[in-house]
Amino acid sequence: MKHFINLKDIPAKDLRKIIIDAKKRKRLRKKLSTLEIDKDAPLKGKLLIQMFEKSSLRTRLSFDLAMKQLAGGTLTLRSNELHLGQGGESIADTAKILSTYGDIFMFRTDSDQKIENFKKYLSVPIINGLSPSSHPTQVLSDIFTVEEIMKKPITNLNICWIGDSNNVLDSLIAASVKFSFKLSIGCPKNFEPCKEVRNWVKKNNRKIYIYNDPKKAVSGADVIFSDKVISLNDKLDKNKKKQQFKKFKIDKKLISFASRKSIFLHCLPRGDEVSDEVFLGKRSRVWQQALNRVHVQKSILLYCFGKLR
Ligand code: CP
Ligand code: NVA
Repeated sequence: MKHFINLKDIPAKDLRKIIIDAKKRKRLRKKLSTLEIDKDAPLKGKLLIQMFEKSSLRTRLSFDLAMKQLAGGTLTLRSNELHLGQGGESIADTAKILSTYGDIFMFRTDSDQKIENFKKYLSVPIINGLSPSSHPTQVLSDIFTVEEIMKKPITNLNICWIGDSNNVLDSLIAASVKFSFKLSIGCPKNFEPCKEVRNWVKKNNRKIYIYNDPKKAVSGADVIFSDKVISLNDKLDKNKKKQQFKKFKIDKKLISFASRKSIFLHCLPRGDEVSDEVFLGKRSRVWQQALNRVHVQKSILLYCFGKLR
């Protein structure tokens, strides 16, 4: 059994294996409809319990479909419906019960420490479905999407991020180290990735390129990523923060500095950080990106169960 918590803690060869498996599985079920089960039904009889402390549309739906296509099932919980969320039960006892009823646990939380605490008491694998420091299932799936569309290994591409230094960017930075790709980041000076993250990159003998001018960050990019300036439960003054990101808006003019064949990706939900023209335009691949989460998460689930082919 394996956990899936942070990309930086998972060996690069395992991440690559997950992507290869997802590609194979996606191809094999090309003619199957949404709820038809993969031929090998690898998770027959298995239950994923997924729990959300924060809102979610894509993550909950894509994990639900992923389990169903693998022949398993899901139960979706809101933590405030449990004794745990009301302060009436410990993580230790909750984790034991989750491990008794379920075979794997996925958790979206406001606290990285809670994931670690659950991990300590669970006897089943845990998947991080977004935490303050990481959104690993999103970003691994995004690597898959980039390679699917660009038809080459991500190592050979210039990747750019325009936006806040948040959980999605932290996972993308981890991915840039694991998959060895060039990552340029465009953000205001006081929203740059924190020292801890930059030091981790350095320690791994890699480099990330940070610019406070969005044009410089986008220059020559093959892929432009973005995310909401205001994340779930962001505690900062929202209007002030949006103001500080104003010149980082991704519009047609800004992407004209990218490579002519560049694509635009966004994990969704979106805010004002991107114009409708770009988001709905021909370079945008956001719907394909969202759907691919099903395919990649299936292989992540199999990895956690030790069942990757
Ligand atoms: N991209 C993503 O994780 O979306 P949700 O917040 O809707 O799950
Ligand atoms: N950075 C965003 C991602 C949402 C999928 C957040 O944490 O809210």
